[in-house]
Amino acid sequence: MARSFMVLLSGVLFVTAFAARHPASVTLSATSPQTMADYVGADTCKDCHGEVFQAWSRTKHARALMKLQPADRIGGKCIGCHVTGPAEAILAEGDTPTHPNVQCESCHGPGKRHVDAARGGDASNARTAAIAETTCTRCHNETSPYYKPFYYQAMVGLVHR
Ligand code: HEC
Ligand code: HEC
Ligand code: HEC
Ligand code: HEC
Repeated sequence: MARSFMVLLSGVLFVTAFAARHPASVTLSATSPQTMADYVGADTCKDCHGEVFQAWSRTKHARALMKLQPADRIGGKCIGCHVTGPAEAILAEGDTPTHPNVQCESCHGPGKRHVDAARGGDASNARTAAIAETTCTRCHNETSPYYKPFYYQAMVGLVHR
């Protein structure tokens, strides 16, 4: 934690360089798969990844929807980055999301195939999506009205620890 904090502080010195590297806006749909049915939800991941689930539960991602007032949950201006699923399905669901908050599958991608493979006896048959800085910056970017500078190396270790 102390080390992460120091990295975070030193990162402030590079704010200009980082800002230049981040696109002004990133559309969710560019990387989103088609249907909500490909998503299983964090409670299903919990069956086999209990410790990770507990750690994630303590992060702000696990409560992100609570930051939106009821009026901001409809209309598509805000909800896309505060819940989990494909962009079009999120918009259609409005204020009654199937998978509220920033869950496992916001970063690891839709998990149904991975879960089916694991239950079939070999999880390595369907690995989850690779994670990179762009996994995060589709939400952590300047189109967020509360945007704070985002430092991937400093923050990536905090997602479930
Ligand atoms: C039925 C048990 C089971 C469920 C449910 C499950 N996993 Fe896994 N998961 C595994 C096993 C077993 C491995 C180890 C695979 C290997 O490396 O051989 C694994 C590995 C992983 C890994 C690391 C390597 C990889 O394959 O990507 C990630 C990330 C992961 N799971 C995420 C998830 C997420 C997210 C969910 C919910 C959508 C989930 N898992 C649900 C059993 C499960
Ligand atoms: C904000 C993004 C994010 C969220 C949300 C998230 N993860 Fe991860 N997860 C990561 C990153 C980054 C790694 C590091 C490995 C990598 O780079 O692929 C990782 C690694 C893992 C691994 C393999 C290594 C380990 O720590 O065991 C598993 C399993 C895993 N995550 C499961 C989950 C589950 C289950 C949830 C939900 C309860 C979840 N993750 C939520 C980003 C995320
Ligand atoms: C689906 C959108 C989304 C994705 C993808 C996402 N985040 Fe977030 N993240 C959020 C939201 C929304 C919040 C604010 C939650 C709150 O304040 O309640 C947040 C908050 C955080 C925080 C806490 C910041 C603070 O002020 O305490 C960290 C750290 C973080 N995210 C890191 C990451 C990392 C690292 C990744 C990629 C591996 C990632 N996030 C991916 C939406 C996302
Ligand atoms: C592009 C993705 C995105 C959109 C769109 C978005 N947010 Fe967020 N929101 C985030 C992220 C990421 C965070 C965490 C802070 C950060 O690093 O930007 C966050 C944090 C917040 C917070 C917590 C701020 C704090 O300091 O604790 C509130 C409140 C919030 N958002 C409300 C909204 C509202 C209202 C809208 C629509 C008008 C909205 N968000 C649209 C991604 C988004």
